[in-house]
Formats: sequence, structure tokens, C-alpha cells
Amino acid sequence: IEKRIIFSSMAVMGLFVFSLLYAMKKYKSNVPECLPYDKAYAEPKVNKLDDKTYQVFSVASMWQFQPAEIYIPVGSEVDFYVTSKDVVHGFNIAQKNVNMMAVYGSINKTTVKFDKPGVYDIVCHEYCGVGHQNMHAQVYVN
Ligand code: CUA
Repeated sequence: IEKRIIFSSMAVMGLFVFSLLYAMKKYKSNVPECLPYDKAYAEPKVNKLDDKTYQVFSVASMWQFQPAEIYIPVGSEVDFYVTSKDVVHGFNIAQKNVNMMAVYGSINKTTVKFDKPGVYDIVCHEYCGVGHQNMHAQVYVN
């Protein structure tokens, strides 16, 4: 019976790993990473590395994201580096399956490819005070 329990636990773990890899491939979602803190990331900015590659340093604070408007061409790949100036905020791009936290003193990074034109909403989805419901930004892709 012990062998059976061990076998079924391994099967469940295998299923978890498979699901993760499958979701990464199917939804082209990138598993976020946590980088060592560097105050260079606390300056909001959009860096153009080349025509199709951008870096966005997104800084959350009560109750806004900076930069609030990001303009990039279709087909761009964007590395988002997310941090907070004060409390814990959320960083959600529902259309792109991005779900991260913005935390003071830490940098969370994810990579998103925008291959369709449109306006993508970045929304704070972690309750952060009285202005929480107004806290959002836009990525304009065209
Ligand atoms: Cu920031 Cu909710």
C-alpha cells in the first residue's frame, strides 16, 4: 500500500508539472520572476531596446501606475519590471493572463508578447486603499 501511495503522489506531481508547462505553451504565459532590488527600477520608464523589444519599469503607488500610458507597435515583446512605492498593489493584465504583485522593496518581472493591436488594461487587483478602484494604466498596441 505504501508503494501505491508513493506512486499516486508522484503521478499527481507529474500532473502539476505537466499542467504548468502546458499552460505556459498554450497561453504563451511567462512564469514571473523575482529580481534583486535595485532602485533604478523605481524610476518609471519605457526603454526601447530595438523595434520589437521594450522594457517597462512600472511603478505602483497610491493610487496610480506610472507610466500610465504605454505605446508600443504590434508584435512587440515587453519585459515588465514591477515595483511599488508604498503598500502592496496588484498588477493584472487580464487579456494577457498576467497576474503579479507590486511590492515595495522587490522587483517582479514578466515578459509579454503583444501580437494583436488594441488597448490592454493594467489593473490593480489587490485592495490598497480608498483609491484602489481608480488604479489602472493602459498599453496601446498599434
Ligand atoms: Cu493599488 Cu489596489
